[in-house]
Amino acid sequence: MSEQENATIRIHIMGKTYRVPAGLTIMDAMEYSGYRFIRGAGCRSGFCGACSTIYRREEDYRLQFALACQEMAEDGMYLVQLPFTPAPRSQYDLEKIDPTENVLLQYYPEIARCVSCNTCTKACPQDIEVMDYVQAALRGDIARTAALSFDCIQCGLCTMRCPADIKHYHMAQMARRIYGRYLSPVPEHLEEQLREIEEGVCDSELDKLVAMNEEELVLAYAARIREEE
Ligand code: SF4
Ligand code: SF4
Ligand code: FES
Repeated sequence: MSEQENATIRIHIMGKTYRVPAGLTIMDAMEYSGYRFIRGAGCRSGFCGACSTIYRREEDYRLQFALACQEMAEDGMYLVQLPFTPAPRSQYDLEKIDPTENVLLQYYPEIARCVSCNTCTKACPQDIEVMDYVQAALRGDIARTAALSFDCIQCGLCTMRCPADIKHYHMAQMARRIYGRYLSPVPEHLEEQLREIEEGVCDSELDKLVAMNEEELVLAYAARIREEE
């Protein structure tokens, strides 16, 4: 094999074979091959969750799931791209919710069907203990559901694979919203700060910041008064 061929790999996209440079992510390799990501890419850095992808390796029948912007392309990969995951979401008005321990089960009753297979946890590119947060939700522990799911990027890879048809990430997002609205401790001085903002105490300082250019903002940020550690 020539040196040039050594530095490239073969990938298969929708059944067509392409040769691409080694060392690219799946997303970059697909773009190198001429594919364009429209709704299937946002941040390109593992944060937005838009680039769910499915692949299979040669001589392996099992499907693998990943974020296209994070997983490296490998020689012989068969690739399919999924443009976002549209799992149905329950409708609710956060201001009218009763934050009791049954509330998650009320809006997402399917969590009771969890068979503890742990497939969701294995599918998560964020290494979140997904099954554990589903179990916490079942126990009515909203704070734990919110804490365990804090790094969720809503990619939907857990939901795509769940045999019980659970919408993990929407349920966990609801838990985080309820926690933030009703259960999290209110920081000291918050009410006083809010009152000052409403009374316009900060208006002149804010006007100054809005009028600054980027360089001035950087200098002002570096010179800010910090709380003692
Ligand atoms: S994949 Fe579904 S059924 Fe399996 S542990 Fe996760 S939530 Fe439960
Ligand atoms: S919990 Fe589910 S939706 Fe959230 S990052 Fe993990 S796999 Fe994606
Ligand atoms: S493009 Fe945002 S996570 Fe991949």
